[in-house]
Amino acid sequence: MRHFIDFGDLLRPEWDQLYLRASQIMDAPEDYLDACRGKVMASLFYEPSTRTNFSFQAAMLRLGGTVFGFSDPNSTSAAKGESLKDTIKMVSGYADVVVMRTPWEGAARAASLYSNVPVINAGDGGHMHPTQTMADLTTITRQLGRADSLSIGLCGDLKNGRTVHSLIKALAKFQGVRFFLISPPELAVPNYMRAFMEENGMPFTQVTGLEAVIPQLDVLYMTRIQKERFVDPLEYERNKGVYVLTRRKLERAKENMLVMHPLPRVDEIAVDVDDDPRAVYFQQARYGMFARMALLSDLANQPRREQTPAVEIGTRPVCCNPRCITQSQPYLPPLVKKTGGRDCCAFCDGALE
Ligand code: CP
Repeated sequence: MRHFIDFGDLLRPEWDQLYLRASQIMDAPEDYLDACRGKVMASLFYEPSTRTNFSFQAAMLRLGGTVFGFSDPNSTSAAKGESLKDTIKMVSGYADVVVMRTPWEGAARAASLYSNVPVINAGDGGHMHPTQTMADLTTITRQLGRADSLSIGLCGDLKNGRTVHSLIKALAKFQGVRFFLISPPELAVPNYMRAFMEENGMPFTQVTGLEAVIPQLDVLYMTRIQKERFVDPLEYERNKGVYVLTRRKLERAKENMLVMHPLPRVDEIAVDVDDDPRAVYFQQARYGMFARMALLSDLANQPRREQTPAVEIGTRPVCCNPRCITQSQPYLPPLVKKTGGRDCCAFCDGALE
């Protein structure tokens, strides 16, 4: 039984296989029309989405499978207080694969403990978004011919931007990648990501200015300031609009530098950048559909597991992160893992009490 919760769970050869499959699907989609014939995907979106929700649905339909689900949790029994565990037990009885997006960090990992079928993390709060990373790596590899030996600038809200965290996890599996982490100090990558980079010997430089580093970059990965994740509205007001990529700023970039963005954008990339050949963010979203087709063709065809392993009952809250799934689902076991030599919550990577 396999789930796809965190890109860090994937071995490099497994990613290479998925990339190869995605490329084959792009080149000959007619060969995959029946790859998921008879399979059913459950699509559980507790948070808004355009690309991830629709590209997963399109992916399953293009593979010959079918889809059910929701994009408004208030239309489900979650609104009556049903637990995540009970929801997943039900849904995994009806489907062959479960795709879920939630505002709660670690929720997909929690769901995987109780699911009879593979669970795919389609974004869990400000934590991880591994299938966006599949789109990102596919874009970089298709456009530049490699994802090794690159200078990559990650710019914007690196604290709450889950796509950034997953991309860093993934690039630990590649050689010679150097990062410029471009953010205001209060939106820098979380401690657990910095510990991860140090533990994995990933060179990085933290800066606040975009213009000074842009000439050095092979990839500029812009992100939105994630308004919905701010507890303090004043902190959002202080940081909104802090980075805006314009055509003038791009004049100093390499001729083949990629401008990427997971989207949606607000104001961090001026609209006139869209016509620059280096702007690949709309293509990136389309690659995401093919990458998700590759993933579904593998996971939806896995044998169903009738009995899920017994899960130890939790006895105490262990995670300090108020957005962690363990805060609202008290039956979850107090799972702990090590990052950078420190114990942290195995659901959300947060610090422990
Ligand atoms: N990139 C991304 O996750 O977009 P959506 O929120 O629209 O799914």
